[in-house]
Amino acid sequence: MTTMQISRRHFLHLLGYSGVALLSACAASDIMSTSLPAINVSGTNTIPKGVPDVEVALKAIESEAQILSGRATSVYRYQGEVLSGPANALRTIPNSYLGPIFNVKKGQAIRVHFTNELPEESIVHWHGLHVPVEADGHPRLAIKPGQTYVYDFTVLDRAGTYWYHPHPHGRTGPQAYYGLAGLFLISDDEESSLDLPSGDYDVPVVIQDRLFNEDNQLVYGGNGMMDQMMGFLGDRVLVNGQPDVTLPVATRPYRLRLHNGSNSRIYKLGWEDGTPMTVIATDGGLLEQSIQKETITLAPAQRIDLWMDFSGREVGSQVRLINLPSAAPGGGAAFPIMTTQIDYAENISATMPERLPMIRWHNEADAINRLSPRNFTLAMGAGMGWTINGRTFEMTNVAQDEVVKLGDLEVWQFANQSGGGRGMMGGGMALPHPMHIHGLQFQIIEREISAAGRAAWDTLSDGFVDEGWHDTVLVMPGESVKVLLKFEDFTGLYLYHCHNLEHEDMGMMRNYLVEA
Ligand code: C2O
Ligand code: CU
Ligand code: CU
Repeated sequence: MTTMQISRRHFLHLLGYSGVALLSACAASDIMSTSLPAINVSGTNTIPKGVPDVEVALKAIESEAQILSGRATSVYRYQGEVLSGPANALRTIPNSYLGPIFNVKKGQAIRVHFTNELPEESIVHWHGLHVPVEADGHPRLAIKPGQTYVYDFTVLDRAGTYWYHPHPHGRTGPQAYYGLAGLFLISDDEESSLDLPSGDYDVPVVIQDRLFNEDNQLVYGGNGMMDQMMGFLGDRVLVNGQPDVTLPVATRPYRLRLHNGSNSRIYKLGWEDGTPMTVIATDGGLLEQSIQKETITLAPAQRIDLWMDFSGREVGSQVRLINLPSAAPGGGAAFPIMTTQIDYAENISATMPERLPMIRWHNEADAINRLSPRNFTLAMGAGMGWTINGRTFEMTNVAQDEVVKLGDLEVWQFANQSGGGRGMMGGGMALPHPMHIHGLQFQIIEREISAAGRAAWDTLSDGFVDEGWHDTVLVMPGESVKVLLKFEDFTGLYLYHCHNLEHEDMGMMRNYLVEA
């Protein structure tokens, strides 16, 4: 980790940023430039948009955290302050490098003044949120040390567990790894009327793997190219930024918001004593009905809210959340994630609502390309690392087949051909790719696994939660997954990419353009 200090701390309000010398030359004839002035950055940041309901100052800083015993660990950290609106709009997790948890309501107007006090470029992305392009944190909007970027958006999404993290090109992996990530929780009236566990009984569980050296410092990218091709894997699990976590609980139901904040590790989660995992929500909020699973497969960026009822358990007893062995990279052995310890008895007869909110589904029959889905082939390109349809990231370019129309409902298909024998490299490395689409939530409508990929797939597929709304879907080697998505409200340049952050940083990411 670089220890370079920032000497200049002037606040540039992004004026002069509109020069955008980012337009790169068109590589292929089907690539078009998107004449970027469509994103009027300085305009967005200077025109007052009225009084927001919640106004926050968010800084990315270099800092330290006490993670292991002994020497403190150098980290990057988001630090927040509520400038106006409810004071509880931000909640800091004690003793954690994680950013403050946003607590906002659907319909609220949010303004965030993001100041970059890191010794390198950065920008914040609101993962899972349906926001205008100016507020999406695209890498072309990255700001330099000392600069401030102002986000203005209205919370349009359903109640649920969303999150935020950096998105500068090529540096998302290390910045998130060194500590930049936080939860963004949305509530709405529908959810509040259900009386789900709240307050102390609504617990974030952000799961991340890390690697420390003897000086308690974070190690990243030590294996060079190999780390990049595979994705970073740590040897130690942190929950909310701490190792060996024990969560004290009462004999009553809890809402546990599981979030995989790891760079690349895929977890196969279960209760050690075999208690079923009761899922009530996915990336995009509550399901219509809870579902029970033996295990949950949680890929990077994904969220699952669990209903866990500790009623009837003996005070003093424990139940551990564990990772079970699977074919996921680094997933060979079982290991504990955290321990829940029954600390005290409480007589709360809260029962799980039988019906959760109704969902207004997209209808596949309405998709404009139902019979010929837009296909995205995920493969190893000769000498270029991971590719999507043979391409890697270009800052402002989109290909013809990456342009969609505002208002259209489409089927997208991600086909993971890694390990599928396409050439020496393609055949050599079979890896799962958690595919993420910016700016919207989608439905997962179909999965198909090849015979060659079946054995590995079988170790994780029972834990797939395909119900509900998602912004990230795991696509296993040899698998094709179809999702249904609609481009609503906003035009402009958004991203889709693999959320294995090392793959993303290598360029396994592309723009898609929503046109009016
Ligand atoms: Cu959480 Cu572009 O990603
Ligand atoms: Cu995102
Ligand atoms: Cu990938």
